[in-house]
Amino acid sequence: MFAKVTLAALLSVMAVPAMAAQCDVTIEGNDAMQFNTKEIVVDKTCEEFTVNLVHVGKLPKSAMGHNVVITKAADKQAVATDATKAGPNNDYLPPNDARVIAHTKLIGGGEKDSVTFKTADLEAGGDYDFFCSFPGHWAIMSGKVVVK
Ligand code: CU
Repeated sequence: MFAKVTLAALLSVMAVPAMAAQCDVTIEGNDAMQFNTKEIVVDKTCEEFTVNLVHVGKLPKSAMGHNVVITKAADKQAVATDATKAGPNNDYLPPNDARVIAHTKLIGGGEKDSVTFKTADLEAGGDYDFFCSFPGHWAIMSGKVVVK
């Protein structure tokens, strides 16, 4: 009887982290111009969500810079075009652009950065993308942001 109670107590403790929402994600970018994921799932039961970006390569920001930019899917291409125009002095992102829902810094090999945003900024079931705004990267370094 004592053993049963102990086991039940143990299971209830273990069940807590399993039910907690995942409120962050870690994405790796490499020297081959790739992210290691094509999808980010944002759970609206989280008040805030954090994207951690890790550049696992060695190349400098000027040659193989990566960031994570989140926009509506419909805005992605136009923001990417404007990002190239914004140039290296702006880390290839138009400053204070209302189309940008969230973004990390542009980083080079061995660096990391994070961005935290309110999930209220995203609609459940909305069509959002994440991408790297470094020139030429967005077409490959891109994926869906699924909001549930
Ligand atoms: Cu990149």
